[in-house]
Amino acid sequence: MSTPEQAAPSSASLLVRAATGHPGPYPPVWFMRQAGRSLPEYRALRANQAMLDACRDPGLITEITLQPVRRHHVDAAIFFSDIVVPLVAIGLGIDIVPGTGPVIDRRFESEADLDRLRELTPDDVPYITEAVKALVGELGGTPLIGFAGAPFTLASYLVEGGPSKDHARTKALMHGRPVLWGSLLNRLAVITRAFLQVQIDAGVAAIQLFDSWAGALSRADYERFVLPHSRSVLEPLAATGVPRIHFGVGTGELLASMRAAGADVVGVDWRVPLDEAARRLGPGAVVQGNLDPAILFAPWGVVEAEVRRVVEQGRAASGHIFNLGHGVPPETDPDVLTRIVELVHSLS
Ligand code: CP3
Repeated sequence: MSTPEQAAPSSASLLVRAATGHPGPYPPVWFMRQAGRSLPEYRALRANQAMLDACRDPGLITEITLQPVRRHHVDAAIFFSDIVVPLVAIGLGIDIVPGTGPVIDRRFESEADLDRLRELTPDDVPYITEAVKALVGELGGTPLIGFAGAPFTLASYLVEGGPSKDHARTKALMHGRPVLWGSLLNRLAVITRAFLQVQIDAGVAAIQLFDSWAGALSRADYERFVLPHSRSVLEPLAATGVPRIHFGVGTGELLASMRAAGADVVGVDWRVPLDEAARRLGPGAVVQGNLDPAILFAPWGVVEAEVRRVVEQGRAASGHIFNLGHGVPPETDPDVLTRIVELVHSLS
């Protein structure tokens, strides 16, 4: 099977071509959290249903995933789900609390908790397979991006019991009980790889590994405690030929290490300009990003200038996928996103 570096059929989508270092006339554009609360049609569908129930309903997954494609004409769909879905599927007690995020009923504390992290099989997530297949049919030529949470970011939720600003318990476990930490991240890597493989087998065109909170770590700690596990997720997937995007927030110091973990594309937040990110990543790198989500609330003239700057700086890389530096804020005016897509498409 061909590797992403070799593959660039002219029939491939703009997203896959950019991801494999064969850019088209303009950067493909999609937005993290494009399916979500910024859309009134999303809020209407979700009004009477808990987040995790929606994530297990193939009809709802399909409809919510399609909403931003119809509205904004983005160049990729992102599968509607959540990073905790595979953990819920193997039986962990997790809720997604509106305005807070994932909350765990029992924190991960000791060896005994490892037994709860059993392997995930395709039979645990039939709704994922069903929804991916339906979407691939509905989307036609628009590529579908599958995703999963990276071992470190998932571990942070399990160890902290919920969202954390300082990741103090997580870092204490990592440094204080490195063997237990290694076992925890091994288990999470096996689950994550299996969850991505289910999506790839069902037909996604690309995958994104979200290590959203990895930017909390020094480069030395990232390389020692995290990188080997993210690599064990990403490297085996190279053989599938499906491009792998690796993203985190505040990861300016980690970009080269995140690429080394086995990524075809590295996501960059707004703190590092894309030309500087390309320099840090080294020759042949493909970047994704990196408009500051806060700019979405500025007057259009400011948004336009910033979009043009991001596209211009992205030309320093071997490929560029236009995105925000993090997710769409819920209060965003969706018309601004539609205008950004139109603008990027006009910048050939
Ligand atoms: O459009 C898309 O990007 C696809 C859907 C998607 C969701 N979660 C839907 C969602 C994706 C890719 C995720 C990933 C995810 N989930 C991450 C990594 C991305 C990132 O933001 O860094 C993380 C850290 C989570 C954990 C999580 N789930 C958080 C922090 C929240 C927000 C809590 C809140 O209410 O503010 C969630 C819930 C969630 N996941 C929502 C959506 C649309 C909002 C819940 C709702 O609509 O009720």
